[in-house]
Amino acid sequence: MVVAAVGLAMLAPVYARLSGARVPATPITAAAMLDTARDSLLVTDKEYQGWKWFHVYCFRCHGIDAMGGTFAPNLRHSVSPQGTVTHDVFLQTVTNGRPTKGMPNWGALLDSTQIEELYAYVMARSQVRLAPGRPHRASDQ
Ligand code: HEC
Repeated sequence: MVVAAVGLAMLAPVYARLSGARVPATPITAAAMLDTARDSLLVTDKEYQGWKWFHVYCFRCHGIDAMGGTFAPNLRHSVSPQGTVTHDVFLQTVTNGRPTKGMPNWGALLDSTQIEELYAYVMARSQVRLAPGRPHRASDQ
């Protein structure tokens, strides 16, 4: 009886595979994701929101993960000490755009909180604190 039950349990995944059903992968727990090393995708809520807005409004010109694109500058460089975009210039440029140069104005669509969140995200990427990819929100862990 016990043997038969164990035998069946062992056969279940084989049967699932033969029948075309997907065998669920071992679930990844939050603890496993945390790892012992620093989590290079861990962000604050503010940075997380910025990541979201960026990938709705900005990525098509400034590149996924703020990597830069063919159409527009690499913002990781722009906000770095080697670039010319200070906090104030960022807020001003995003709000008013540079219409003659292909940078739309976002003042009517995004409020100052959203623009600050975008700045926080771009800074995190620029300072290499945040790796490319979908960030992990600290408040979710
Ligand atoms: C339609 C394409 C496009 C989109 C979408 C876009 N931008 Fe731009 N952006 C540009 C271009 C082109 C420039 C360069 C303008 C220039 O030459 O001065 C620019 C410049 C900038 C600059 C100044 C960079 C520098 O080094 O001077 C910032 C900051 C910026 N964009 C932020 C954003 C943010 C944040 C978003 C999303 C809310 C966004 N942009 C969406 C095209 C775009």
